[in-house]
Order: sequence, then C-alpha cells, then structure tokens
Amino acid sequence: MSTILAIETSCDETAVAIVKNRHILSSIIASQIDLHGTYGGVVPEMASRQHLQTINPCIAQAFASAKLGWDEIDGVAATVAPGLVGALMVGVTAAKTLAILYHKPFIGVHHLEGHIYATYLSDPELQPPFLCLLVSGGHTSLIYVKDCGVYEMLGSTRDDAAGEAFDKVARLLGLGYPGGPAIDRAAKMGNREAFPLPEGKVSLPEGGYHPYDSSFSGLKTAVLRLVQKLKAENQPLPINDLAASFQETVARSLVKRTITCAIDYGISTIVAAGGVAANSALRAHLQAATQEHNLKVYYPPLTLCTDNAAMIACAAADRLNRGQTSSLTLGVQSRLPI
Ligand code: KG4
Ligand code: ZN
Repeated sequence: MSTILAIETSCDETAVAIVKNRHILSSIIASQIDLHGTYGGVVPEMASRQHLQTINPCIAQAFASAKLGWDEIDGVAATVAPGLVGALMVGVTAAKTLAILYHKPFIGVHHLEGHIYATYLSDPELQPPFLCLLVSGGHTSLIYVKDCGVYEMLGSTRDDAAGEAFDKVARLLGLGYPGGPAIDRAAKMGNREAFPLPEGKVSLPEGGYHPYDSSFSGLKTAVLRLVQKLKAENQPLPINDLAASFQETVARSLVKRTITCAIDYGISTIVAAGGVAANSALRAHLQAATQEHNLKVYYPPLTLCTDNAAMIACAAADRLNRGQTSSLTLGVQSRLPI
C-alpha cells in the first residue's frame, strides 16, 4: 500500500493530488482555461509561468484537504512526458525538490499511463487485460493493456488527435476554447444527421484500410468547406447541426475501430479514457455497441477523464508497490511512446 503525492503540469492544468493506491485522499486542479481562452488555445510560455505561480498553493491545498502530513507520504510523482516541455519542467522540478527535501523516492509517470489508471480510481476492481480507447487533446490511441505496465499500441491517428479535431472545429464554428465541451453542448440542440460527413480512413499500401487507425484531417476540411459554402451563399450557419453532425461522425468512427479491435484480439473489456471520453455521443455509441457485442465497458467520471494528478498518483502507487522508482536525473520529454 503506497500513499503518493503527485503533480501534473503537462498542459494547462496545475494539478496536485494525494492518493493511497486506488483511493483519492485529495485532488486539486487549478485550471488555466480562462487565461488561454482569449487566445483560442494554450500559449506554452504562459502555461509554464502560471504553473510556477500556482504549484505551491496547490501542494499546500492538497495536504490540507487530505488532512495528512509528509510522514504519511511514501513517494513523490510527476508527469515527465509527453507534454509542453516548459510546463512539464515546473511539475517535475517541484516533485524532485520535494523528494530530496523529505527523503522520498521520485516516480516519473507517462501522461497516457496516467489516463489509463484514472479508471482504476473509479473502478478499483478493474484488472487487465483490457483495451483502452485513449482519446485526448494530444492522442487517439487503442492500447492493449495486457498487464499492469505492459502495453501494446494497436491503433493511433495519422494526423490530428480526436480532441485536437474537436478544438479546431469548435474554433471554426466560433464556439470557443476548449472546443470539446462546447461542441458537446451545441450538439445537444442539433440534428446529428443534418450533414453527412466523411469518416476519415487510413489507406494501407497493400490496399484497403487500416482497421484501427483514425484520421481526422479530411473530416475537419469537410466541415471547413461546408462553412465556407454556407457563408458564400449568405446562409446563416446552422452551428448546432454542424456540431452534432461532426460529433456523430467522430463518435461513430472511434467506436467502430474500438469494437473491431476488441473482437479481433478477443478482448472482452473496454476502457474509454482521456478528455474526449467525456463526450456524450461517444459514450452513448460505446454503451450501445458494447451491449450489442456482449463486452464490458468502463469509463471514469468526467472529472477523472480530463487532466488531473490523481491518475498520475495512482499509476505511481502501482509502480512503487512493485518496487519501481525513477532516477532524479530523469528528464522531461515532449514526445514519448507509452
Ligand atoms: O485529456 P485531456 O484533458 O488533455 C490532454 O491530455 O490532451 O483532454 C483535453 C481534450 C481537449 O481537446 C478537449 O476539447 C477534449 O479533451 N474534451 C472533449 C470533451 N471534454 C473535453 N471532447 C469532446 N467532448 C467533450 N465533452
Ligand atoms: Zn491528458
């Protein structure tokens, strides 16, 4: 049983949490959404500076909320990759400093491994093997979780990540940042069959299409062309219908790939993780498809889908329980396969 203090600063949330194995004792998230919102996306330099200002108060708040002290902490963890380098460095430097100061082991965690572990916090009985559909602002991956810490990447995206596509289309429709939740809200008032849009496919050199890989650039361009055409014709933009049609196309294509992959590999449990797993259409399609094919499906609650430090702490606790720690020389990396 390990109690971990973890820090997550890979993008635009300063997050600190204290977790005992799969049980959250405190989870603090200081969002920078308002700061970056005016620019329509994350400004890396501003993110790092904001993390610096917020990190110490967040650590103090995590301890106060968990009502415990350093004596009860077994290790200090931080996200080391992938992410914005300057932003990652703030969290990693803070974690290493605390580890040295309080004589605790340091555990560096891969951000995507954290997203996978988020599901263990909401469903502690979940055990590998399972197939994880990991859809976030930076990733669209189908990861076969064979055992704790043993992963095989079965599918990915050839261009934009799913969340990135949501964010770009939202900007196109004037829905603001972050785009995913804005499109989800607008889509609730729209007709998802209003505009038939192309589902991106990845061609194989030997012919046919990759069954698990995604592509979103064609879909994004199709929405752009549609918007340009409607504007040229002086027609009012049917924002809600466009949002609903786009969201429906993404959800359908992601679920199709996930189910095909699970059936091909004989995997009976599916986990949806990452920010886009909060999407209502994706959840509805996944629910229906898994029911139809007699598969089990797990998704963390919305608060654990998007970036948080509790998921990083949970992954670190598992590593520490298995005797794994990281060197204090471990650096940050903007890109790193899981
Ligand atoms: O996992 P996350 O918090 O950060 C990354 O690791 O990237 O994911 C953020 C992404 C953003 O692109 C955001 O637009 C998207 O998740 N997102 C959603 C929803 N909530 C967040 N996308 C679709 N529907 C949502 N409800
Ligand atoms: Zn993330």
